[in-house]
Amino acid sequence: MEGTLNDLKARRSIRAYRPEQIKEEELQKILEAGTYAPTGMGKQSPKIVVVQDRETRDLLSRLNAEVMGTDSDPFYGAPTVLVVLADRERPTCVEDGSLVMGNLMNAAHAVGVGSCWIHRAREVFDSEEGKALLKKWGIEGDYIGVGHCILGYPAEGAVPEAKPRKADYVVYVR
Ligand SMILES: Cc1cc2nc3c(=O)[nH]c(=O)nc-3n(C[C@H](O)[C@H](O)[C@H](O)COP(=O)(O)O)c2cc1C
Repeated sequence: MEGTLNDLKARRSIRAYRPEQIKEEELQKILEAGTYAPTGMGKQSPKIVVVQDRETRDLLSRLNAEVMGTDSDPFYGAPTVLVVLADRERPTCVEDGSLVMGNLMNAAHAVGVGSCWIHRAREVFDSEEGKALLKKWGIEGDYIGVGHCILGYPAEGAVPEAKPRKADYVVYVR
């Protein structure tokens, strides 16, 4: 249990990556943890799309940057992008997908892989190009983009310190 609590505290958002791909066994452990996130009424509304094909990864990067109006790589060079979507028909779709994102990031840290939540999935997958990608990937139905969990090995010196927690984070009523 101490190990779990330490992992939850020590995970950080990584914003510089080495180019090599993560190991398949690490990926599978991370994905499994994602699929065990709790979901509203246990309906498992999310889907996780594993993008490791360079061309698709770069296309997602470009679409994401376009939402921001930049031409930088919002994925910071990470070689794997997990796109978390959730079935819009479920009233808890965003919460469900967010918990999957949390599990993915914490599991990544636990197996020694760096990660970061990259936003703007909603805009990307609401766009015509995003919808065309979902169709190409065989994903039918009405899916909302919740987040991109980027994965890779942190570059030298890329693990930041956590900011101190704000003093009034917890309110006790007891
Ligand atoms: C909903 C959400 C969206 C985020 N979007 C981005 C993003 O687009 N780009 C980015 O670099 N970090 C993004 N982050 C990471 C946060 O900036 C990061 O979690 C925060 O600075 C705290 O750092 P830590 O994760 O290392 O504790 C996002 C985090 C969350 C929860």
